[in-house]
Amino acid sequence: MTGGRFSSSTRDIPEVSAVPRHIAIIMDGNGRWARKRLLPRVAGHSRGVEALRAVIRGCIEQGVEYLTVFAFSSENWRRPQDEVSFLMQLFLKSLQKEVARLHDNGIRFRVIGDLSRFDAQLVKVIRDAEALTAGNTRFSFTVAANYGGRWDILQAMSRLMARQPERRDSFTEDELASELSMHFAPEPDLFIRTGGEKRISNFLLWQLAYTELYFTDVLWPDFDAAALAEAIGSYQGRERRFGRTSEQLKTAAAGQASDA
Ligand code: IPE
Ligand code: IPE
Ligand code: MG
Repeated sequence: MTGGRFSSSTRDIPEVSAVPRHIAIIMDGNGRWARKRLLPRVAGHSRGVEALRAVIRGCIEQGVEYLTVFAFSSENWRRPQDEVSFLMQLFLKSLQKEVARLHDNGIRFRVIGDLSRFDAQLVKVIRDAEALTAGNTRFSFTVAANYGGRWDILQAMSRLMARQPERRDSFTEDELASELSMHFAPEPDLFIRTGGEKRISNFLLWQLAYTELYFTDVLWPDFDAAALAEAIGSYQGRERRFGRTSEQLKTAAAGQASDA
């Protein structure tokens, strides 16, 4: 393998465990949650932070190793200016409030996305939090902020091309994957989108190639440990074939059982 630590699911069949190692979530439905309660949309975002805290705890309890959440897409700048400002402030305040707790719990924190549009204070808090938690290994928590899957693939490709232009026809999937923002994690096993929409919205386009997709109508502020357990239960009922037939999987499982 020439690329990162984790190989590509389209080249090698990954090992599948009962509990997803990596869960990726689009936390959607905050605005509708607030509207249902006659509150301003931003009240939903504040409640969303609380839901996230419970989901991190739930993931650790269930044995998940990586959680990656979509907090702000590269397209969310199109929202009304006050909502964008509120979200930036909320991100800053939540970090200032929660980083010590993340660290005390052995959680490694990272942000992926193009931080160049964020203000200097927010970038500093993010970088400090990443540095503080860099040695933690119990759980990996990543926030995608001003993130777009297309941006990610493009910047990875540009870096490869800049470094070795003469190899433009021969880069491998593993090499490309190791330049992506999520190079440090295995591809997500389970993708969850709350809020009822059934789309990827430019999230981890490359990495979701063989991820199991789970969509729920539950609005993000209402998503809790029980809802997480339900999503994991759905995942456990899936057959991850990675291109093979169901019969092949059964033969392989029977072979392993008789070896044991
Ligand atoms: C998701 O909730 C949070 C962000 C995109 C920041 P929304 O704000 O999209 O909520 P809905 O989809 O309008 O209900
Ligand atoms: C996707 O949610 C991005 C985040 C949750 C941060 P949106 O609510 O912005 O997605 P679309 O635009 O409806 O697809
Ligand atoms: Mg939405």
